[in-house]
Amino acid sequence: RRLSGGSADGVVSVGGVPVTELAAEHGTPAYIVDEADFRARATAFRDAFAEAFADACGGADVYYAAKAFTCTAVARWLAEDGLRYDACTGGELAVALRGGTDPAHVLLHGNNKSDEEIVRAVRAGVGKVVVDGFHDIDRTADAAREAGVRQGVLIRTTVGVEAHTHDYIATAHEDQKFGLSLASGQAAEAVRRVLARPELELRGLHSHIGSQIFDVSGFEVAARRLLGLHAQVLAEHGVEMPEIDLGGGFGIAYTTQDAPLSPADLARGMAEVVTAACAQLGVAVPKVSIEPGRAIAGPAGVTLYRVGSTKDVALDGGLQRRYVAVDGGMSDNIRTALYDADYSATLGGRRSTASPVLSRVVGKHCESGDVVVKDEFLPDDLAAGDLLVVPATGAYCHSMASQYNHVPRPPVVAVKDGVSRVLVRRETEDDLLALDVG
Ligand code: LLP
Repeated sequence: RRLSGGSADGVVSVGGVPVTELAAEHGTPAYIVDEADFRARATAFRDAFAEAFADACGGADVYYAAKAFTCTAVARWLAEDGLRYDACTGGELAVALRGGTDPAHVLLHGNNKSDEEIVRAVRAGVGKVVVDGFHDIDRTADAAREAGVRQGVLIRTTVGVEAHTHDYIATAHEDQKFGLSLASGQAAEAVRRVLARPELELRGLHSHIGSQIFDVSGFEVAARRLLGLHAQVLAEHGVEMPEIDLGGGFGIAYTTQDAPLSPADLARGMAEVVTAACAQLGVAVPKVSIEPGRAIAGPAGVTLYRVGSTKDVALDGGLQRRYVAVDGGMSDNIRTALYDADYSATLGGRRSTASPVLSRVVGKHCESGDVVVKDEFLPDDLAAGDLLVVPATGAYCHSMASQYNHVPRPPVVAVKDGVSRVLVRRETEDDLLALDVG
């Protein structure tokens, strides 16, 4: 994250632009994305995986998981930088196409794709449709026949690994909505059904084990199990699938407690386990794909808020908590309320030497769960009008934003080399009211 404080007046800058200037020009709250940082993280994944898998299978493909954060400019950056695009709805596909993504570099996920989404994706020429259930197979094959193409597909396989932050619980995660179970034979049955439809080209197996993962052990179990089925398909059907997709989920540092792996360490670790598993099974290493979202977008974004009011509350034991209310809240960052997520906050617009006070950054919405940062020490002289910067909000904040309480959604502003530009404009009350047609 290129958040730099330390200037004489204590003003924090992002991408070379002081937050005071960003607030004056674009208003608050605002999502700020550091373009150079986003692109550096994207190309770091691209290069690290290309290098780590070069000998084993000629490189690896990185599909950016658009659900983390997307807009037309982001799709354009990714296309320019040679990343591919993981869309999981027709809407995300539309953004990819508008941003100039080569359709062949798009894959379409979704556990409940509509007929229309499948037809649109196949007609657009997406590289791969991910079969998430038996119901996707005939619909995709029919769409391919109608479009006169042979459609590449992956089979999303539930490998029985539940990934937690530092841990995974084997066999624990059959009980969820995604994918076809490996253990029960559903995935093998899906392979048979795909192979029975000549309009489909079976490209390989897919698994995504979870999010905010900090080590490769969960990926190792997943890769071994996927490759076991991969080898079985070769033995039973004589079909050597050319690819394997290990999904996303690479963790980031929301606070100083988190210690993420670098793309290079991840890539080396994953190359090691995939190569070892293939050697053991006696199969060639298929082309590997990954789908990082958060690890690219998350650290590259901050949210800029303005403080409106504060209130002190006495806690048990003589402690005190200060509630610092900002001009956004759970409508622009639902993650604290939804996942009990941890964030930090920094005074952005000036220097303060006042002593730190235990504070909770809250929003302006009509419920007490409207918390942005649960616990942070902020200077005692913090007051209405001050700017607060909340780092690591580049993923799953804008993309999960709502208009709760009819609060228009903030703009997305890109900063680069000391210059800012709006990528997504601020919503207005008129935008919201324009939807009311009755
Ligand atoms: N691939 C698949 C198939 C996925 O389902 C996901 C995330 C990803 C890739 C990207 O995962 P990432 O690298 O971004 O962790 N809203 C939640 C996260 C939900 C993730 C769902 N799938 C949050 O705010 O933490």
